[in-house]
Amino acid sequence: MATFTFLLLCATLSAIIFFFLFRASRCRRLRLPPGNLGLPFIGETLQLISAYKTENPEPFIDERVNRFGPIFTTHVFGEPTVFSADPETNRFILLNEGKLFESSYPASISNLLGRYSLLLMRGGLHKRLHSLTMSFANSSIIKENLLVDIDRLIRLNLDSWTGKVFLMEEAKKITFELMVKQLMSFDPGSTWTESLRKEYVLVIEGFFTVSLPVFSTTYRRAIKARTKVAEALSLIVTERRKEIEAGERKNDMLGALLAGDDEFSEEQIVDFLLALLVAGYETTSIIMTLAVKFLTETPLALAQLKEEHDQIRGKKSENEALEWSDYKSMPFTQNVINETLRVANIIGGVFRRAMTDVHIKGYTIPKGWKVFASFRAVHLDQDHFKDARSFNPWRWQDNSGAASAGNVFTPFGGGPRLCPGYELARVELSVFLHHLVTRLSWVPAEEDKLVFFPTTRTQKRYPINVKRRGVSKLCKD
Ligand code: HEM
Repeated sequence: MATFTFLLLCATLSAIIFFFLFRASRCRRLRLPPGNLGLPFIGETLQLISAYKTENPEPFIDERVNRFGPIFTTHVFGEPTVFSADPETNRFILLNEGKLFESSYPASISNLLGRYSLLLMRGGLHKRLHSLTMSFANSSIIKENLLVDIDRLIRLNLDSWTGKVFLMEEAKKITFELMVKQLMSFDPGSTWTESLRKEYVLVIEGFFTVSLPVFSTTYRRAIKARTKVAEALSLIVTERRKEIEAGERKNDMLGALLAGDDEFSEEQIVDFLLALLVAGYETTSIIMTLAVKFLTETPLALAQLKEEHDQIRGKKSENEALEWSDYKSMPFTQNVINETLRVANIIGGVFRRAMTDVHIKGYTIPKGWKVFASFRAVHLDQDHFKDARSFNPWRWQDNSGAASAGNVFTPFGGGPRLCPGYELARVELSVFLHHLVTRLSWVPAEEDKLVFFPTTRTQKRYPINVKRRGVSKLCKD
């Protein structure tokens, strides 16, 4: 028995030694970026998760960049992955989408998104729908059509706040209502919008079940909710087709999809709308919440922001909507938005898969390997942003604090998958901040911490106590 145990131990040890030697020699042969693949199978996943569950996840990348340089190999979520904290490499990855790299999501996420979501589409169809989305959310459409609804919806929401509110929840409600209005012309408060939102929240929760999703109740609930959302959207598409036949037209995203020369199927339209809701809802609402959190913690910045908006409101009556020219005269607000996106972007980077062996900076990324272009690592790098780890909106004045910001500041990605909602998000954030600081004052109701896993958010949904500010005093009449 003892001999058998000894032999078994020797065999196991040899297998482990062989595994590491084989892996090391393969790495040398291919000139992979240096790094550590960690334990068999789980790699360095646990280290990554425990770092990103804290307020300060930076050590995970910092330690590896210090040891191996800005392009390093690790093994996370079941696969060897090349991490890039290098702006040139990130740019190369983004620009070579569809040529050397393609977007890559786990099957659990793809099932929730649907195969015709913009995030999963590839080739010609992706190109057509990406530019359709861009044309729906570009500045002239926002200026002519969307701004007035954005202003009204945000104002109505803020006017209903009293006492203690959970800012993250309220911001999500606002961005959901905005997306539903812009995509399908549905007004807030309707039972349809509210019940869709409830199902939608369940779908979103499913995105963040990382460990064995098939065994997770949250994931199964998300799949069921997805079916309900898809059914509800299908009904809308059918009704809208009937309206178009009867000669009625609505000026929204669904209208644009149905009016074009392309004959999109119902499944294509439903997947597409569902994914747009995902992309525009969670991102913008978290940035709204974090901008308020950072401003609250930086009173000088909050005072300067208030001054900027009091001046704009001072020239208008209490409920007069903001115009495009007002949006264009908010330079400090844009600094605050940039700085919030830099310090705590909800999309810390993007995963891609190498479509072929890719040679870059003297290394090879083997075909089929995952890469992660980390925007966050670049945004928080002292070489690119002076005093990079602190919130300092003034750095964006004349771009003094950001060396060549155009190349290194990529909160909205780049290349063929550049976020089509980047201008819309900026406008929504600016209008939100305008009405917030001119109508309300607030104090945090509790201490709350920022965490980054499974997604960027505050642990307690950022509870604040709000008070009305008396807008009429600021206004022209
Ligand atoms: C602060 C808010 C936002 C941030 C930080 C953000 C960020 C990003 C980033 C980094 C990407 C690139 C993903 C990749 O390369 O794989 C992206 C893609 C996308 N975003 Fe946004 N986004 C925001 C708001 C919005 C809004 C309001 C919309 C609604 C129109 C939107 C729609 C999309 C879509 C549809 C994609 C997929 C594009 C594609 O794969 O072709 N986003 N976003």
